[in-house]
Amino acid sequence: MKPTVFIARRIPQLAMQLIAPVAEVRLHEGALPPTRTELLDGVKGCAGVLSLLSDRMDAEAFDAAGANLKVISNFAVGYNNIDVKEAKQRGIAVGNTPGVLTEATADIAVALLLAVARRLPEGWRAVEQLQWQSWEPLGWLGLDLAGKTLGIVGLGRIGSAVAQRLAGGWGMKTLYTARSAKPEFESQFDARHVELDELLRESDFVSLHVPLSDATRKLIGAPELAMMKSTAVLINSARGEVIDQVALYEALKANRIFGAGLDVCDPEPLPVNSPLRELSNCLIVPHIGSATVTARNAMAERSARNLIAGIRGEALPYAV
Ligand code: NAP
Ligand code: GLV
Repeated sequence: MKPTVFIARRIPQLAMQLIAPVAEVRLHEGALPPTRTELLDGVKGCAGVLSLLSDRMDAEAFDAAGANLKVISNFAVGYNNIDVKEAKQRGIAVGNTPGVLTEATADIAVALLLAVARRLPEGWRAVEQLQWQSWEPLGWLGLDLAGKTLGIVGLGRIGSAVAQRLAGGWGMKTLYTARSAKPEFESQFDARHVELDELLRESDFVSLHVPLSDATRKLIGAPELAMMKSTAVLINSARGEVIDQVALYEALKANRIFGAGLDVCDPEPLPVNSPLRELSNCLIVPHIGSATVTARNAMAERSARNLIAGIRGEALPYAV
């Protein structure tokens, strides 16, 4: 008898083609993530779960699955939705999809940075609302990128890809944080490993790329925003919880920084009544960093291979 796996949402067909021959698939068909009850019911008796970043996989979910559970395969590189420590204690393997969404997510960070710097949403709104009356010598003035300083918070795969685009393309000087220095990157680009405070004080553009953890939750709060230049732009394509969103709203509202571009929010989706929606200097997109056909197909393949290896008791090809 084939083992049963729960797949928390319809993902690219490639994953189904790989999984269906080796496992009985229980698919959550809804357009929205499974509710907690649907998730806990769905995983019952499963050997594997293919989860999304919106599915909390913790002790309660592992208990609901039962003793057969061997693997959680996340359809994402970030795995803050999974209690990895608890999974490891129970001998449950955890996999993710690193690398294949790096370029797509770096593109979104750069797209947000350019759009906020050059005030594209405000310009588009003026066109849409029929308020564009002439070429404006003093209208919609934005920021240049060339020769400016870029601050990358978390120079890993995605952070480096963003820096390569902006240092290589626009000749931006790069400051970065990471747990360890990256001498190879420094020798290739005009880059320096610094403390977060220095990065925030010196940078014209700050882009966040750290994973969400206890160490990075609300890493950017009121004190950190106060350190930034009044002309600085803040980009977040990491996780919404890395920023204190109330403090960000206050800083943007008072024009203490120039603007922000967010691919991620806290919570997601952004509540209807979030005051961030009212701000003209805040551009928000719906967590679309990896939303390209190429990236999502590659994520489907990696997450399927992790799931299959896990239910067979083999080492995961992309283990957390
Ligand atoms: P990665 O290669 O592991 O890079 C993470 C970087 O953060 C590393 O440079 C790491 O330092 C640094 N770091 C980790 N903890 C830190 C801490 N406490 N203080 C300072 N730096 C710290 O990961 P990635 O593939 O670039 O992905 C990064 C994150 O982006 C993911 O975890 C996910 O949350 C998010 N993401 C979002 C989207 C989207 O759709 N918006 C798509 C993909 C990923 P070391 O290099 O020294 O270890
Ligand atoms: C997306 O946010 C991911 O972590 O893959």
